[in-house]
Amino acid sequence: MYCVRKVTDNLYWVGANEHRLELFENIHPIPKGVSYNSYLLLDKQTVLFDTVDWAVCRQFLENVEHVLAGRTLDYLVINHLEPDHGASIEEIILRYPKVKIISNEKAFMMMRQFAFPIDGRIEEVKEGDTKSFGKHTVTFVAAPMVHWPEVMVTFDTTNGVLFSADAFGSFGALDGKLFNDEVNFDRDWIDDARRYYTNIVGKYGPHVQSLLKKASGIDIKIICPLHGPVWRSDLGYFIDKYDKWSRYEPEEKGVVIVYASMYGNTESAATALATKLVEQGVTNVSMYDASKTHVSTLISETFRVSHVVLASVTYNLGIYPPMHNYLMDMKALNLQNRTIAIVENGSWACKSGTLMQEFLENEMKKMTVLDDRLTLNSAMNEDKLPDMDTLVDSIIESMK
Ligand code: FEO
Repeated sequence: MYCVRKVTDNLYWVGANEHRLELFENIHPIPKGVSYNSYLLLDKQTVLFDTVDWAVCRQFLENVEHVLAGRTLDYLVINHLEPDHGASIEEIILRYPKVKIISNEKAFMMMRQFAFPIDGRIEEVKEGDTKSFGKHTVTFVAAPMVHWPEVMVTFDTTNGVLFSADAFGSFGALDGKLFNDEVNFDRDWIDDARRYYTNIVGKYGPHVQSLLKKASGIDIKIICPLHGPVWRSDLGYFIDKYDKWSRYEPEEKGVVIVYASMYGNTESAATALATKLVEQGVTNVSMYDASKTHVSTLISETFRVSHVVLASVTYNLGIYPPMHNYLMDMKALNLQNRTIAIVENGSWACKSGTLMQEFLENEMKKMTVLDDRLTLNSAMNEDKLPDMDTLVDSIIESMK
């Protein structure tokens, strides 16, 4: 059965939701699913903006056929070729053999790499080119590395719709809803949107900044991303989040405590530290067990707040592996500009604190590590309370 939504006059959402996939990109958990958005414009000519993942291709094809209602498909605009959007290109070509594909040189190169039969049907565009489909005229804007090098966004100058590719996307299936004003985004979606942005596009902050600069010069009325809700109101709310995330600026003053504990002793110290912070009025505190929390959530939470406590046991004379993995991911995603407090533990040859500090200072950018490290020998004991109090004071002082 087809399942489509009208976005605005002559423009329809023809995407599909995915609930069966456990891991997006086979790495990030998506317990609330994900949507693959595609949009179909009915003008003098018919234009499809991007396709969908192979897993939902059948639903997508039904949707396209329904909205076309007997018309043929004239154009397919590809803003982003990653297979979660490009996988169904070949199926579209098979069903609509006269379709012309509009995209850029890099995207066409990749389509050939993926062995799509595009020859004889391509129309190459570059930054600033325009194209009219009847009443609607669109302009193409390059957005390299948001999130692959071939990415572009397409702006419809007639109705103010921005087809924004991965930008302004979110994890989470739409399940009947489509627009941001049909959901409680700040309550139900922001954590997944942040986890999507920070883990998928987080590395490319400067490129996102460059896109935001270009976008600020155009009168955008509706944002149609390739995942998650379509934005038709309160655009500033989400643009502000993207601005902060891509500048690696925290959204909130707060503390995330990530602990790596083998037998509960480091966890106990982390809990005592959290309690002291809260007692002194720092209530925006969250704790995560590095062994049990997917690293994509740790990354997302680290983007959210200003301060991070890393509490790690020493393991094989090194950093506990899940904590090390988290640090490696922070580096890979270019995370920077945070204040870090360190708690280390070791029953002998306690090394994790020094190793974490070296990693933060030598391998990452603009990380401020507080001097007052708390060192535990096996467990938090009364004699360590003064050191913990000093670390708590230091965290609070640095938040001022
Ligand atoms: Fe949703 Fe970069 O693909």
